[in-house]
Parts: sequence; C-alpha cells; structure tokens
Amino acid sequence: MTTTNFICLEHLNRQYDDAGVKQLVLQDVSLNIAQGESVALLGRSGSGKSTLLNIISGIDMPDAGKVLVDDLDLTAMNEHERTLFRREHIGFIYQFFNLVPSLTARENIEFTLELNGLPANEIFPRVKALMEELDIFDKADRYPAQLSGGEQQRVAIARALIHQPKVVLADEPTGNLDARTGHSILQTLHKLLKEHNSTLLLVTHSLEVANSADRIITLENGYLKERDSGFAW
Ligand SMILES: Nc1ncnc2c1ncn2[C@@H]1O[C@H](COP(=O)(O)OP(=O)(O)OP(=O)(O)O)[C@@H](O)[C@H]1O
Ligand SMILES: [Mg+2]
Repeated sequence: MTTTNFICLEHLNRQYDDAGVKQLVLQDVSLNIAQGESVALLGRSGSGKSTLLNIISGIDMPDAGKVLVDDLDLTAMNEHERTLFRREHIGFIYQFFNLVPSLTARENIEFTLELNGLPANEIFPRVKALMEELDIFDKADRYPAQLSGGEQQRVAIARALIHQPKVVLADEPTGNLDARTGHSILQTLHKLLKEHNSTLLLVTHSLEVANSADRIITLENGYLKERDSGFAW
C-alpha cells in the first residue's frame, strides 16, 4: 500500500446563497487520505458531509481551493472531463440504494460497465463473479422492488464496485438497514475494498459504523477536524 496522499483537499471553501444570505458550508477544509485507507465522516445534519462527497466526485465544485484525486486536479477540469473522471474512478453508495427501478439487479450493475465502454462479452462474467461474491446472483433477474433492503444495498454495492474504482464514496450506506444486516454488509464492503486497495470515504451518523474505518473525521460548522480521543457522539 502506498502511503502517498491519494485524495488531497486543499483549503476548500463552499458557500450557498440562501435568498441573498451567504451560507458557508465548508470553510478552509483540508484533508489528505492515503490510497487504500478508509475514513469515516461524522457530522450533524446539514454540516456539509454530502457536499464534501459531491466535491470529491466532481459533481459539485468548491468556490475556492484545490481537489486532487490520484494526482488529477478536478478543479482544473471542465464538466465533461469531470464526468469521465467520475465514471472511471468513483463508486457511489447511497442510503436509499438509488437503483434504477426499471432495470433488473443484474442490469443495474452492468450499466456501470456499459457506460465505461467495456466489451459486451467481458461484462457478464465480471458481473456474475461479483454478484456471487455478494451472494445475490440468485436474485439477478429480479427488479429492485422485488428485493429486500439488504439485497438492494448489496446490488448497489456491486454497482459501485464493478468497475474497480479507486475511490468509493458511501453516504450512510447502512443507515436504512437493521443493525445486523448493516454490520454484515459493511464487513463485506471493507473486504471487497481491500481486494483492490480502494479508498473509502464513508458518511455515517453511527459511531459503531465509523469505528469500522481506519480514521474518523468530523465536520462542525463548516470546519473539518480529526476526531480527538475524548470525542463522544
Ligand atoms: N444546492 C444547494 N443550494 C443551497 N443550499 C444547499 C445546497 N445543497 C446543500 N445546501 C445546504 O448546505 C448545507 C449542507 O448540506 P449537506 O447536504 O452537505 O449536509 P449533510 O451534512 O449531508 O446533511 P445530512 O446528514 O442531513 O445528509 C445545508 O444547510 C444545505 O441546506
Ligand atoms: Mg447528506
């Protein structure tokens, strides 16, 4: 594992205009994450966690500061370049799974590889192998509405990891699951990430989930802090 900084955020500011009133969501946020490291991000509702994930994936842009992922400067890219960057390098996992309802489980996962232009004959074997690893291949032809929450989240994890992204961003991935299912899914996620030395930034409200990561950081009033020892949530 390399110890060089893989995700580098330098002095980020992000503000929104709320009916003419400026709201500073991120203030002078700097953060370094090494390749293969997992980092949990805690913070109250509205503290800017999703905003930070969106900036790292190039969906949103900071008003000031620099964003480097694997030495690629997102802040120097145009929107099209950022879209291509996101497709290739980022995997997203959401709290409410966000599967496409009109596609089967298998098609939801295949879609990521089709977008990335993988030859058609390479797609199915790869999807099958990952679905088997996540124990959902027997549900391959079901639609999301025909799957339990835990099954939907495993499909969503497969969709996020199938192109072996270097960075996985997870926004409360187990927030909508019972504790036992959430715990088991989280363990599987960490195991799959280790296999490819992928880097994880995990937003959560749960200290237990946060403790599964190598490091914990918090966002408070727009400022980012490393968790200190006396931290209680
Ligand atoms: N597009 C937008 N326009 C204006 N304000 C926005 C926009 N997106 C987010 N905000 C504001 O920025 C702040 C941070 O939002 P963000 O979604 O990052 O919070 P969060 O920490 O993810 O919260 P939660 O835990 O509820 O998901 C909030 O006050 C929100 O209202
Ligand atoms: Mg959020």
